[in-house]
Amino acid sequence: MKALIINEQGLHLAEVEKPVVASGNALVKISASALNRRDQWIREGLYPKIELPVLPGSDACGEVIQVGDPIDTSWIGKRVIINPNNNWGENPKIQNRDYHILGMPTKGTLAEYISVPVDRLVNAPLFLSDEEAAALPLGGLTAYNAIVNKGELAKDKKVLISGVGGGVAQFAFQFALAVDAQVWVTSGKENVIGQCVALGARGGVNYKEPQAIKSLSKSVGGFDIIIDSAGGDGINTLLEALAPGGKYVLYGATKGLPSTLNLRNIFWNQLSVLGSTMGSDQDFSDMVQFVKKYQIHPIIDSIFSLTDGVQAFDHMKSGNHFGKIVVKP
Ligand SMILES: NC(=O)c1ccc[n+]([C@@H]2O[C@H](COP(=O)([O-])OP(=O)(O)OC[C@H]3O[C@@H](n4cnc5c(N)ncnc54)[C@H](OP(=O)(O)O)[C@@H]3O)[C@@H](O)[C@H]2O)c1
Repeated sequence: MKALIINEQGLHLAEVEKPVVASGNALVKISASALNRRDQWIREGLYPKIELPVLPGSDACGEVIQVGDPIDTSWIGKRVIINPNNNWGENPKIQNRDYHILGMPTKGTLAEYISVPVDRLVNAPLFLSDEEAAALPLGGLTAYNAIVNKGELAKDKKVLISGVGGGVAQFAFQFALAVDAQVWVTSGKENVIGQCVALGARGGVNYKEPQAIKSLSKSVGGFDIIIDSAGGDGINTLLEALAPGGKYVLYGATKGLPSTLNLRNIFWNQLSVLGSTMGSDQDFSDMVQFVKKYQIHPIIDSIFSLTDGVQAFDHMKSGNHFGKIVVKP
């Protein structure tokens, strides 16, 4: 089968063995996969514990065409998405030490077929296209845990989604709109801010202008929840944009560590700084239910064929996207 492979020669399309279906596993014929920044980090050698070669990809929608022994034929023919969590463990709040994400060390979804444990399969929501369903798993789960669980999202809360053009951030944005929160955004792209306003955001500013974030916060009266994956020095501006008692939820650190951190602001204003990573299997199930309840369609930036997979990665690297980048075998 065809698959995207990252090895010492870099990222390329390759012909690899079709997976053999082990007992307890299902073979899924992939109709659509989606990229996450994680895949590009692995390509750039910037992810922990890289074990080459890697068949990347954590998101997919497809059809179950075979199951291993013991045979549970009930899955055959079903259109499914795959829970990218492996070994989350018993504690709903924190993952196990041997927790890992589909797409390294196990073979991922940027291929024609994948074999996964049957308990990772979830019926794809009927109202979503294959491309939309493929876009959901990793980003949807990360956003759900960050904004719904950690941020305690609720109607009328004043929410700021930082870097809304990102694959995860767009879900946080949509989840916040779904519950009738008051939503503002930041982006490095004016056109993305405009699109978000058209979709229901109350406004937005460019994160490259800290003064604009300060003015926005002042006019809003401070945010109750800020969702961010950039970190870096921007964290101080975002923490200052919170209302007293507000929550700053961080699920990434694209901009690295801050050179300073205004601790007085954090304790004096009773702020919560919350880290968030993926979510438990229960969170995954809750996220899918939430998406079904509010009929949320993931924002698809672009669709590439698997043979153009390298260009899909380059597009993610360029940062010129809004929403998910989908790859189709
Ligand atoms: N902890 C977890 O479980 C988990 C899960 C998924 C992702 N992550 C991490 O979260 C980050 C985003 O992942 P992703 O898949 O959503 O990637 P992505 O689609 O590439 O999104 C990254 C976004 O970051 C935004 N950004 C860039 N510079 C920024 C800045 N200075 N301030 C605010 N936003 C900025 C950009 O927003 P605009 O396009 O609007 O400019 C960009 O679209 C990555 O670091 C990733 O490793 C962590």
